[in-house]
Amino acid sequence: MTISQQTIEIVKSTAPLLKEKGEDVTARMYPILFSKYPETEVLFKNANNQPAKLATAIAAYAANIDQLENLGDAVERMAQRHVNVKVKPKHYPMVADALLTAMTEVLGSDVVTDEVSSAWGEAFNFLADILKTREKELYAA
Ligand code: HEM
Repeated sequence: MTISQQTIEIVKSTAPLLKEKGEDVTARMYPILFSKYPETEVLFKNANNQPAKLATAIAAYAANIDQLENLGDAVERMAQRHVNVKVKPKHYPMVADALLTAMTEVLGSDVVTDEVSSAWGEAFNFLADILKTREKELYAA
C-alpha cells in the first residue's frame, strides 16, 4: 500500500493541531469506541493512561508520516503490546471509525473537512497495515 503526496501534506498540516489537542481527541475516542463497539472494551481492561499514549503516537505519526524511521522502535512496541492484549485485524476499522468521529467532533468540521477526514482515513490504514503485518508475524511466532 502506498500513500499519496496529497495525503502526506494534509496529514502533516494537521500535526501541530493534533499535538496540541490530541489528548482531547483520544479522550473522546474511547467513549465512542466502547459505546459503538462494546467488544473492544475488554481489551483495555488493564490500560493505563492509554489516551495520552495513543495521542502521542498519533501526533508523532502525523509529523513523521513521510519518514517513519524517525519513530524508532515505537511501531514495534505498539505491535508487541497489541499482541499481548490480543488486538486483531477486525478491530482496526472500529478504531478508525471512532478516531475519525472524535477528530471531527473535537477539532470541528471546519478543520476536519471531508478532504482532511479522507486523508486521515488513508493515513490510518497505512499505519494499520504496518501494525497488522507485524502482529501477524508475532502471533505466528
Ligand atoms: C493505527 C492504529 C493504532 C495505534 C497508532 C495504536 C497505538 C498504541 C500505542 C502507542 C499503545 C501503547 C504502547 C505501549 O504501551 O508502549 C497501544 C496500546 C494498546 N492498543 Fe493500540 N493502537 C492502534 C490500534 C489499536 C486497535 C485497533 C486496538 C483494538 C481495539 C488497540 C488497542 C490497544 C490496547 C488494548 C493497548 C494496550 C493498552 C494498555 O494496556 O495499556 N490499538 N496502542
